[in-house]
Amino acid sequence: MELLTRFGLTFGFRWLHVLAGITWIGLLYYFNLVQVPAFAAFGDDGKSRNMAIDKVARRALWWFRWAAVFTLVTGLLIVGITKDYMKHFLAAGSGQGVAHDAAIAVGMIFGITMAANVWMVIWKNQKVVLANAANVLAGNPPDPAAAAAGRSAALASRQNTIFSVSMLFFMVGSAHFFNTSLWTAGPSKALTFLIIAVVIGALLEINALGLIGGKATTNKLLWPYESHKNAIISAFSLWAVLWILSEILFKK
Ligand code: HEM
Repeated sequence: MELLTRFGLTFGFRWLHVLAGITWIGLLYYFNLVQVPAFAAFGDDGKSRNMAIDKVARRALWWFRWAAVFTLVTGLLIVGITKDYMKHFLAAGSGQGVAHDAAIAVGMIFGITMAANVWMVIWKNQKVVLANAANVLAGNPPDPAAAAAGRSAALASRQNTIFSVSMLFFMVGSAHFFNTSLWTAGPSKALTFLIIAVVIGALLEINALGLIGGKATTNKLLWPYESHKNAIISAFSLWAVLWILSEILFKK
């Protein structure tokens, strides 16, 4: 462990982690805030849209999905090489270290869910969309499954945008906000916080997967995903709920 510190690895992994994280989340915001509205603005011009999907989205998705892997791996490496990481939480202790551990646990659970969404939902479905665009450009008939695949990917992508605000708050906040003497917690408060955050996160996730009321635009429960504006409002609402909860449970 001393070797890791001497060669700056604990810092080095943090640096690479943040570098990969900004690449991933930067592209997530590009997709949500720029690409989806821009591609919709092509309207009936299918050829231009398919060209943009084939030439722009394909490249952006490559960086996006590999940056997600790199972020996840470097994040887990920080945990792996830091001596006694999460020790306060795991030992059911109390004090400000528990607030740190509970905060990073929520940040990591949201981050890992987001990485799973990237590979298991977004990329899985975007492959269908990309193949369809290339096929149509080559003069072949369109794949009727492409629209539904695009919808599934969009729902998960907006859910990732919704998670991202709280994820980053708790991730950065673990060491730079919750780690002061203003905050403290015992094991039961930390566990309560974690359970509530995970239940809210899980409900949002299964809703975004269409497992509650389906994926149709008529499903009112999908309001958070119907525009990037709704996703931004939902993201800050989720953050506000979790931040207030942390104030109630952890503030001295
Ligand atoms: C994918 C799953 C992720 C895991 C498992 C993970 C894990 C971690 C861990 C263990 C830390 C160290 C916290 C501490 O100092 O105690 C951390 C810090 C951090 N992470 Fe993540 N992370 C993930 C995703 C992300 C994403 C998507 C971003 C987006 C930018 C990000 C940005 C950061 C930042 C800025 C820090 C603070 C570094 C510092 O100030 O020390 N992480 N992460």
